[in-house]
Amino acid sequence: MTQPGTATDAGRPVPPPVAPQEVDPAVGRVVVSEAELQQRVRDLGAQITADYAGRPPLLVGVLKGACFFLSDLARAIDLPVEIDFMAVSSYGSATHTSGVVRILKDLDLDLTGRHVLIVEDIVDSGLTLSYLRRNLAARQPASLQVVALLVKDGLQSVDLDLAYEGFRIPPDFVIGYGLDAAERYRNLPFVAVYQEPAQREAGATLGSS
Ligand code: IMP
Ligand code: MG
Repeated sequence: MTQPGTATDAGRPVPPPVAPQEVDPAVGRVVVSEAELQQRVRDLGAQITADYAGRPPLLVGVLKGACFFLSDLARAIDLPVEIDFMAVSSYGSATHTSGVVRILKDLDLDLTGRHVLIVEDIVDSGLTLSYLRRNLAARQPASLQVVALLVKDGLQSVDLDLAYEGFRIPPDFVIGYGLDAAERYRNLPFVAVYQEPAQREAGATLGSS
């Protein structure tokens, strides 16, 4: 049998096998399923459509995590929304924010007089969001609200004041539907707990079903 990476008779290399993400041991317990995500995003879209009738919002997505949520949410809103993106980086370890935020890419649009809706993937400590809110509020928008898909239970030291929130989840590090661990797993269609290598070796429950 031909080994992966070796030349075949035709002289073409066979690519090494790559396990599907859903059987990857890093992908742990599913926290929010694909069906639950899609239903909730549709409901949020309907609510936003009703609340913003006559004043279509500018959706401000925070890259990269929020881009999957934003693109589904925008299609669930029956209003001529505008879309813009910001990229920020928070100093800290791979899995914890310090609250010190740096703007890597600023918005293209001027917020003056616009109804701005910040679209966030996940709120953990709430420090990133509280920085963004202060920063965007200083640009004279007509209104400024936040929709967050996921909110981790009980970890926020700041008052979040979220107009819309998708799901409250336990305070585990999660991946999927835009959320990454070292840039991987954003394209999982569900949200799952990330099993760090140390946890896996300690025999934590594996599998994504
Ligand atoms: P906060 O400032 O602690 O609220 O963290 C907010 C940002 O950290 C989010 O917008 C995410 O980009 C990232 N983050 C927080 N928790 C997670 C997680 O569980 N998985 C992936 N990214 C996360
Ligand atoms: Mg984010």
